[in-house]
Amino acid sequence: MNAISPPTILRSRKHTPALILRRATISTHRHFWSAKPAAMARINTSVEDFKKVLASSDRVLALCGAGLSAASGLPTFRGAGGLWRNHEATSLATPEAFAKDPALVWLFYAWRRHMALRAQPNAGHYALAELARRNRNFLCLTQNVDDHPQSQLRMLHGELLDLKCFDGCGYVERHNTSDPLCPALAAAAEDYPPDQTMPLLDPNQPIPDIKVEDLPHCPGCKTGLLRPGVVWFGERLDEAMLREVDDWIDKDKFDLVLVIGTSAVVQPAAGFVDRAADQGATLAVFNPDPEAAAGLVDGDYFFQEDSAKILPLVIEGVTRGAASPS
Ligand SMILES: NC(=O)c1ccc[n+]([C@@H]2O[C@H](COP(=O)([O-])OP(=O)(O)OC[C@H]3O[C@@H](n4cnc5c(N)ncnc54)[C@H](O)[C@@H]3O)[C@@H](O)[C@H]2O)c1
Ligand SMILES: [Zn+2]
Repeated sequence: MNAISPPTILRSRKHTPALILRRATISTHRHFWSAKPAAMARINTSVEDFKKVLASSDRVLALCGAGLSAASGLPTFRGAGGLWRNHEATSLATPEAFAKDPALVWLFYAWRRHMALRAQPNAGHYALAELARRNRNFLCLTQNVDDHPQSQLRMLHGELLDLKCFDGCGYVERHNTSDPLCPALAAAAEDYPPDQTMPLLDPNQPIPDIKVEDLPHCPGCKTGLLRPGVVWFGERLDEAMLREVDDWIDKDKFDLVLVIGTSAVVQPAAGFVDRAADQGATLAVFNPDPEAAAGLVDGDYFFQEDSAKILPLVIEGVTRGAASPS
């Protein structure tokens, strides 16, 4: 129902420049999410077997997506969360959409800020943090914009609570937690009981009439609008961060890649999984959607469950038994 392509699409980072945020492009390369039906592969679903693999794995990469935060009450982009009022969430996540209707895009992001500020980390987040503490050769790449930066976490798509100048004067404000961000965006910061629909989310209710001059403006250049510090479709990811992730991936082969709560159809993030799979890493997918297992091969793992439930089980009590941290 939303504009993101289905997870069976074929792709490989080798054919795609790895800087611009975009939905997957079709390539002739087959790797993760291949055309091979998962049912034909001997995919392991044993928690005990997986714990042994994790314990003997040195270099471990995780790619996380919106599903990791689903148990914290944050909607994913596919399925119910893909539509905001009657707009595809992806159609609001572009610089063109902001230039055309900054009030609409700001209302969408003001609502997401409000949701993120209310949300608490779930047991899946804590389990990953524990894995990071135990294994210094674990790196977590997240596509989520509402996590909290830590040394072993790279936020590929920016940070929702950061603000930056839309005119590109260079002004950035980190971690602004004002909610509402300004009086004009107050409709996005209202709380309603669970049995009531927030008027802002009801497409039958008129959208608040907001004048552009009442939206937050850049204190740096005084002319540009402020915008959320996320990476929109068509924009470049942070080059220094990508270079660092690239170098880390190229340094050595991986033992294990965890693909958690993501449809893995947005590049360049999904390409990192392909690269690690290229190097022969075992893949483990944590996702309630059976389609998420498409493309796994013999010996890979699939846990068709809420990541907040399964991650604590598979990470609990695991002590890495392989080489010492470098
Ligand atoms: N800024 C925006 O508004 C916007 C909109 C759409 C996409 N995007 C970008 O696209 C990126 C990729 O999307 P994505 O893959 O993170 O999200 P997604 O919504 O495409 O996929 C979420 C995945 O999580 C799974 N899932 C649902 N509940 C789960 C649970 N409890 N446990 C585990 N898995 C669960 C779903 O089956 C699905 O495969 C986003 O991170 C974002 O950067 C941005
Ligand atoms: Zn500015």
